[in-house]
Amino acid sequence: MRVAICGAGDMGERHFAAFSAIDGVKVAAVSDVDEGKARRVASGGAKVYPSSEEMIEKSGVDCVSIATPTAFHARLAIQALGKGMHVFCEKPMARTVEEGEAMAKAAGKSGKVLAIGYSTRFNGAYMTARDMIRAGKLGKPGTIRTSRCATQEADWHGDIAGNGGAVFELMTHDLDWLAWTLGPVERVFARGLAKGKARVDRDYALAVIRFGSGTIAHLEASFAEMDGFHCAFEAAGDAGLLSYDSRRATTLEARLVTPDGLRRLSEAPQGQKPLEKEITAFVAAVQDGRGYAIPADEALVALRLAAAVEKSIETGQPVMP
Ligand SMILES: NC(=O)c1ccc[n+]([C@@H]2O[C@H](COP(=O)([O-])OP(=O)(O)OC[C@H]3O[C@@H](n4cnc5c(N)ncnc54)[C@H](O)[C@@H]3O)[C@@H](O)[C@H]2O)c1
Repeated sequence: MRVAICGAGDMGERHFAAFSAIDGVKVAAVSDVDEGKARRVASGGAKVYPSSEEMIEKSGVDCVSIATPTAFHARLAIQALGKGMHVFCEKPMARTVEEGEAMAKAAGKSGKVLAIGYSTRFNGAYMTARDMIRAGKLGKPGTIRTSRCATQEADWHGDIAGNGGAVFELMTHDLDWLAWTLGPVERVFARGLAKGKARVDRDYALAVIRFGSGTIAHLEASFAEMDGFHCAFEAAGDAGLLSYDSRRATTLEARLVTPDGLRRLSEAPQGQKPLEKEITAFVAAVQDGRGYAIPADEALVALRLAAAVEKSIETGQPVMP
């Protein structure tokens, strides 16, 4: 199986390593508008393209993996599906619901796999918590608090108009995980710094969501974090409590001075990381239909919720999605 990767930033580099580690899979091409970045990531004879569109047109690969900023997801996914290629696209699915729906339609028409990279579904703590909640181990879930906070590292993180800020970049994981775990949402109410703005550096948003089941969730997403990334949740039911904080999980942290500047690496020393599990499952879904690829219709749920959060921030009113 030959794969082409669009975008050679943090995630593109990880996609390259995760695909390359799978037997029978070869990353044949890498694109980045910054050609030097693509060249730094590409190894083992992978061809470098400055244009993703040209790479999709000419590389003749079986699969395209999209790790560009969100603004480009829909356009590149639809082009690749139209060429008969399978697509693994990073979360969030797209910037707007209309774009996401067009991606789902293109996948349906092509009959190829379109998977959206909600890696939190492959994170052991979130998977176990979901299983416990759904098995009734907490009794009736009353409240769930989630938090996802990062230092703003890329300029595009502040481009609300193009990429959606903290809601689309960070909160989207928790919206996806909560809806996957708890089912339909009844009401969304949110506040955020992005209200009325096309650009906000160090964006911040808070949302309160009521589920059809009666559970209330409180979600925090922040690009105003001092020191790197962390995510956490607390869930409370009438029979128990659960909590997770990535800052307490055992990981090996490294800060390395490289010719490209300071780079932060975070390694979980044991077992496969969520992204590796996710990409292994995507490859299995493409090869024999047995892997778990998060389908477009499920990813659309999170996209519609992010759009509802955005609308509530804009209007100051509750939104029924
Ligand atoms: N699953 C996760 O946990 C997770 C974590 C971080 C980011 N992401 C997602 O991955 C995607 C990329 O994020 P990142 O952190 O790697 O960003 P990044 O800024 O590190 O890298 C993005 C790269 O894309 C390049 N680029 C921009 N437009 C392009 C185009 N049209 N074609 C090719 N390259 C282009 C940029 O030059 C940059 O090198 C985003 O959608 C983000 O939401 C997912």
